[in-house]
Amino acid sequence: MSAYIINGGNYLSGEVRIGGAKNSVLPIMAASLLNLSESILLDCPCISDVDISVEILKSLGCKVFRDGNTAVVDSSQINNFEIPPHLMNKMRSSFIFLGAMLGIGGKAVCGYPGGCELGARPIDMHLKAFKKLGVAINEGGGYISCDSSRFKACKVALDFPSVGATENIMLLACKQKGTTTIINAAREPEIVDLQSFLNSMGAKISGAGSNKIKIEGVASLNSVKKRIMPDRIVAATVMFAASAAGGNITLKNVNCSHIESIILLLQSCGADIYTHGDSLDIICSKRLRAADTLRTMPYPGFPTDAQSQAVAAFTTMEGTSIVKETIFENRFNQASELKKMGADITIGDRLAVIKGVKRLYGAHVYAPDLRGGAALVIAALGAKGTTVVDNIHYIDRGYESLDKMFSALGGDIQRKDFYE
Ligand code: UD1
Repeated sequence: MSAYIINGGNYLSGEVRIGGAKNSVLPIMAASLLNLSESILLDCPCISDVDISVEILKSLGCKVFRDGNTAVVDSSQINNFEIPPHLMNKMRSSFIFLGAMLGIGGKAVCGYPGGCELGARPIDMHLKAFKKLGVAINEGGGYISCDSSRFKACKVALDFPSVGATENIMLLACKQKGTTTIINAAREPEIVDLQSFLNSMGAKISGAGSNKIKIEGVASLNSVKKRIMPDRIVAATVMFAASAAGGNITLKNVNCSHIESIILLLQSCGADIYTHGDSLDIICSKRLRAADTLRTMPYPGFPTDAQSQAVAAFTTMEGTSIVKETIFENRFNQASELKKMGADITIGDRLAVIKGVKRLYGAHVYAPDLRGGAALVIAALGAKGTTVVDNIHYIDRGYESLDKMFSALGGDIQRKDFYE
């Protein structure tokens, strides 16, 4: 068990460099199976979801070397096409490996994916699309067995722009014969990053970033070197921390267009934000005003992955904020913990009404999931007194040394690892 001990109230100031994105590196690590060669990944974050991806790659016969934020995957010796349930259920994005294994051609077997408890998070859209593309699927005994030897390229329409389903289809189709088109594709920047990685290997994919992606199959792919795009959710987390605790922070290595919805929201609350190239200044020198209504939406809308952090910041803004969660049903798990710190939050059907209080106070709270955990850290940095944020293994899934990052900005935060 591990926890963060946070003494709140310090103004945050200084400069922080944002590292590579979790949601970009995970599908890219799966994609590194496809070239049967070497992939060098720069700005690969040291987070536990990456550790799980490395475990999966090794279980398939890949060699993986890591040195700080560089990872090298050598998939030339891949000799296994089965991922056991105990590895699959460690995270949701393990399911992306299915498309990559099938993309090499032939049979693949895996258990069902796990991940944070944000709701049902089914995989029906992935499987429906695979079937439409000629993949034979058998489910039973906790395993999904697939065979892509009768793959048939065609147009596939998604019922919802699912990020994972879009990525899985790209991985499945890029080395298969013919042209596959995804209609109603997800438009997230991480999908553009995946396209750029695959095209640098020699794939012929176009349209990522729009709702129509065209994948023209190629026979083989080459070795590749790629820098992972900056993590827009880590950038958002720092910005919400500045708004909760007060701060004057420069974020380096950000793609400002990826976080436009966050910038506009916080400006409407009264934060001063200036962008220049790949850096951004945020200055919050007084108490901010509540956001009127916020709805999470697929990109370019406000990201569900930043909703918990926004709720944490709203708890002390002046006035009432209303947040509507449209992507995942269980995404207000942090609210009961924030209430222990004095927040005034009422939860309805996928709706949170947050009445701003002057100040939160320290309490012993438990991270309910990855982003909910980050939200508690944000609340604690602005609170009066000491907060213990427990269960931080969730936070480790997607943030590299969150404690060191906020300490460098002047926050009083320490990690304690308690072993059972
Ligand atoms: C990805 C992100 C996650 C983010 C989410 C939404 C990664 C590794 N994870 O997750 O951080 O919160 O996008 O931006 O990139 N759905 C179905 N059936 C399916 C697939 C999805 O009903 O087959 C539903 C989900 O339950 C959810 C919605 O579609 O309600 C969006 O899910 P999706 O975009 O697929 O999210 P993930 O790819 O799992």
